[in-house]
Amino acid sequence: MVSSSRRAPRSVVFFLLLLLAPLFVVVVASAFMEEDVILGTVAAAARLGGSKGANASTRRPTVTGGGCDVVAGVVGGRRDEVGGWKEEIAGMAARPDMTAWLRRVRRRIHERPELAYEEVETSRLVREELEALGVAFRYPLARTGVLASVGTGRPPVVALRADMDALPIQEAVEWEHKSKNPGKMHACGHDAHVAMLLGAARILKARQHLLKGTVKLLFQPAEESGAGAKRMIEDGALEGVEAIFAVHVSHEHPTSVIGSRTGVLLAGCGFFKALIRGSGGRDTVVLAAASTVVSLQGLVSREADPLDSQVVSVAVVNSSDDSAFLLGGTFRAFSNASFYQLRRRIEEVVTLQARVHGCDASLDFFEDQSFYPPMVNDARMYEHVKAVAKELLGVGAYRDVPPMMGAEDFSFYSQVIPAGFYYVGVRNETLGSVHTGHSPYFIIDEDVLPTGAAVHAAIAERYLAAAAAVSSSSSSSDPVELEL
Ligand SMILES: *[C@@H]1O[C@H](CO)[C@@H](O)[C@H](O)[C@H]1NC(C)=O
Ligand SMILES: *[C@@H]1O[C@H](CO)[C@@H](O)[C@H](O)[C@H]1NC(C)=O
Ligand SMILES: *[C@@H]1O[C@H](CO)[C@@H](O)[C@H](O)[C@H]1NC(C)=O
Ligand SMILES: *[C@@H]1O[C@H](CO)[C@@H](O)[C@H](O)[C@H]1NC(C)=O
Repeated sequence: MVSSSRRAPRSVVFFLLLLLAPLFVVVVASAFMEEDVILGTVAAAARLGGSKGANASTRRPTVTGGGCDVVAGVVGGRRDEVGGWKEEIAGMAARPDMTAWLRRVRRRIHERPELAYEEVETSRLVREELEALGVAFRYPLARTGVLASVGTGRPPVVALRADMDALPIQEAVEWEHKSKNPGKMHACGHDAHVAMLLGAARILKARQHLLKGTVKLLFQPAEESGAGAKRMIEDGALEGVEAIFAVHVSHEHPTSVIGSRTGVLLAGCGFFKALIRGSGGRDTVVLAAASTVVSLQGLVSREADPLDSQVVSVAVVNSSDDSAFLLGGTFRAFSNASFYQLRRRIEEVVTLQARVHGCDASLDFFEDQSFYPPMVNDARMYEHVKAVAKELLGVGAYRDVPPMMGAEDFSFYSQVIPAGFYYVGVRNETLGSVHTGHSPYFIIDEDVLPTGAAVHAAIAERYLAAAAAVSSSSSSSDPVELEL
């Protein structure tokens, strides 16, 4: 996820920190700090009778009528497809060989972090693991991206996504698997995201005979900057796909607790750099720039709906010579309309204010690097995530969360097809995994890995079961009320 302190244009780095300081206060203040619910896959599996590799598939509880089981039950799926998916998926994720492998994979990636579009080794590791699992894939998409496929090869098709890129941060955590690439670090958990999605591939491959369609696994480059998701779409990653899901680790929730919300989850995020030029002398250019800053300040305070949170902030000024003045800033909004409206108004204000003072302005919005629309969850996909998480991990292991001003390029997918984005907690005071993403001290509780793999796999498998149920019920005269 693009934290509020993302480093897109170099010049923009330090002022973002300034900008975001108050936001962090807000976010932290509203964060869920209570540690009341601590459930992991292993715990869940134990509760369900599948702990420590015990084979749970022989235990088939009767269909409870809750959540996802209703779907399969209603459409009269064969008995062996109805009961047991929770126990089987949780049990498989919790097996010692699986958890050890997930840790190994995550640590290998953590040791060799690679920046946007340079994920060469990471991408090779992904392909080697997929080959070892016997999972087919397409490569490359978006330069280093991989598109794997499990299931029938026919519709319905559901997608799961992981991001592979690291950050230009020097790791400050001293541990055995510390980054070996100077100045680069997986400080936003993408190493864990890749491991979890490979874990899902392994679970889904083992359950291929139960899949009612196809699961596409997207391993994408360049989430932090470079809009890798956009390139993946341009290279056909969403062809035939009807819904997509992704998970992000979060230090705000205890290990393995899932959080999400319907509607907007993360802000749209853009940057701008304006160069104001004039021949009237330094004082004229300075006045033009000063008027522009003041006018930009009015966009949110005077034009925006106070109930529709937005940010426009100028935090870089630079003047290298007498005839040019540089302004740099960022803008954020929670709705697509407000985001594009801000972009349009910033352009108008900069251009016209410069002209008022007899100057010219040129403007760059870095649209190929760092122009991410708001991340909006589809209501049905959100319900699906919530239902599956509660079924799999227990009702206490899911919480609704407030929106945040951070950004995520998963929003490009959510603009094209219904999408569900959710967090999985990695907070564990004992281990010290309490630091925010993009911190050089960022660490995760690796017990989250099997949970992430299991939730991914369950979301995809149950989505296909529900989608197949919809299509079979729509071809009969007896429509069924479905709950994803
Ligand atoms: C400010 O301008 C100087 C001179 O052109 C340049 O070296 C420097 O990198 C600029 N700083 C920023 C933050 O743009
Ligand atoms: C459980 O046991 C059955 C029968 O021995 C086997 O087919 C299945 O793969 C096992 N499942 C897991 C999750 O180990
Ligand atoms: C967001 O707004 C832009 C500009 O108006 C538009 O092109 C795009 O289709 C919108 N996206 C959604 C999901 O509404
Ligand atoms: C934190 O990690 C330790 C060591 O793995 C574990 O014993 C403990 O249960 C974890 N606590 C939480 C809250 O997950």
